[in-house]
Amino acid sequence: MASVVYSHQFSWPARWAEESKTKEGAPNEIVRLDEAVPESDASPATEESIPRAFEGMIGASEALKSVLAHVKTVAPTDSTVLLEGETGTGKELISQAIHTLSQRKTRNFVKLNCAAIPLGLLESELFGHERGAFTGAITRKIGRFELADKGTLFLDEVGDIPPELQAKLLRVLQEQEFERLGSTQTQRVDVRLVAATNRNLAQMVSDKVFRDDLYFRLNVFPIVIPPLRERREDIPLLVEFFVQEFSRRMNRQIDTILASTMEQLTDYPWPGNIRELQNFIERAVILTTGSTLRAPLGDLKSPIESESAGTTLKQVESGHILKILRETRWVVGGPRGAAARLGLKRTTLLGKMRRLGLSRPSPEVAI
Ligand SMILES: Nc1ncnc2c1ncn2[C@@H]1O[C@H](COP(=O)(O)OP(=O)(O)O)[C@@H](O)[C@H]1O
Ligand SMILES: [Mg+2]
Repeated sequence: MASVVYSHQFSWPARWAEESKTKEGAPNEIVRLDEAVPESDASPATEESIPRAFEGMIGASEALKSVLAHVKTVAPTDSTVLLEGETGTGKELISQAIHTLSQRKTRNFVKLNCAAIPLGLLESELFGHERGAFTGAITRKIGRFELADKGTLFLDEVGDIPPELQAKLLRVLQEQEFERLGSTQTQRVDVRLVAATNRNLAQMVSDKVFRDDLYFRLNVFPIVIPPLRERREDIPLLVEFFVQEFSRRMNRQIDTILASTMEQLTDYPWPGNIRELQNFIERAVILTTGSTLRAPLGDLKSPIESESAGTTLKQVESGHILKILRETRWVVGGPRGAAARLGLKRTTLLGKMRRLGLSRPSPEVAI
C-alpha cells in the first residue's frame, strides 16, 4: 500500500509536510493516500510510513511522547506503575510495552480486569484456590499472581477491587506473599505490578472506598495518559493507521480521505478515545465501496451528548448550535431556521458549522 500524502492544513510531522508538497490535492479538499499503490497487497512498507511512536503505538504529540519517555524510564525497573487515564486511551497497550521493555519480557505477561470479574470470584482469580475451598471449587486453581511469577501482572480497573480484598493485595505487593483460598500454606512470588484505572483513586481515598496505604503503594510511579481530545495532533495519524489496517484486513483499496472528513474527525472529542476512533474507522472502511473513505460522520455523538465534553467556548458553542439545528430539523435559513434563531446570517452559520464540523447526520451512509 501507500505512503500517505495529506493536504497541508494539519500540523503534520515535518517529513509528512514535505511529502504533501509533492502531491497536494485541491486546496482544502483532498487528503490522499499515495496513488502509487503497489499492485501486490499490503506491503510492510506501509506500516513504516506512519510514525510509530514506539512499541506499536501511533502518535507524535508532545503529550504522548512525554508518556512514552516515562514508560521507557520506568520499564527496566521493577517498580509498580499506575496508569491513569480514560477508557480507550491505551493503558493496556502501554502496560504491555512496560513488560516488553523490562528484563521480565521473556516471562509471562498476565492480565486481569478487576471490573470484569464477579466480586465473589475475584479473590480466587487473583490468588487461586485449593480444591474444596468453596462450593464449586472442584479442582485446584492457580491464581494470576502465581501465573505472573517472575513476570508482570497487569491489573486493569484496580479501583474496582473491593475493600475486603485491598488488604490482601497490599500484602502481596509489600511482602510478595499470599495464601491460596482454602490453604494455610504461604506462596512466595516475584511479580511486577502494572495497575490501571480510569477512576480518580485519590478521590476514592478521600471518600474512604479505597485504602490509602494501598493507594500509596500503587502510586509509586503514576503515569497519566491524556485523552485523545488533548492530543489532537495524533488523530490524523491514528485515522490513517486504522484506515490502512482495516483496508488491508478487508482487502479494500482506500487511497483518499477528504480533508473535510479529516477535519471533522480531528474536531470530534472522542469520549471513548482511541478505541472509539478505531471502531469508527472499522465501520467507515466497511461502508466504503470506492477508493475514498466514506466516514459515517453523522454517527458521531455530538459534543453535547458526549459525557466528557469539555467546557471550552468552542465546545459550548458547538453544542448550542447543534441543539438549535436539531430543533429546527436542520433548517438553516428562513425565518424559522437556525440562523434566525441564533441571530446570525445564514452564511455565517454555515461557516461556523463547517468550522465546528457540524453536519447533518446523512441518511445516505446508513447501511
Ligand atoms: N497510540 C496508539 N496507537 C495505536 N493504537 C492504539 C494506541 N493507543 C491505543 N490503541 C488501541 O486502542 C484500543 C484501546 O486501547 P487500550 O490499551 O485497550 O485502552 P485502555 O486500556 O486505556 O482502555 C486498543 O485496540 C489499542 O490497541
Ligand atoms: Mg482497558
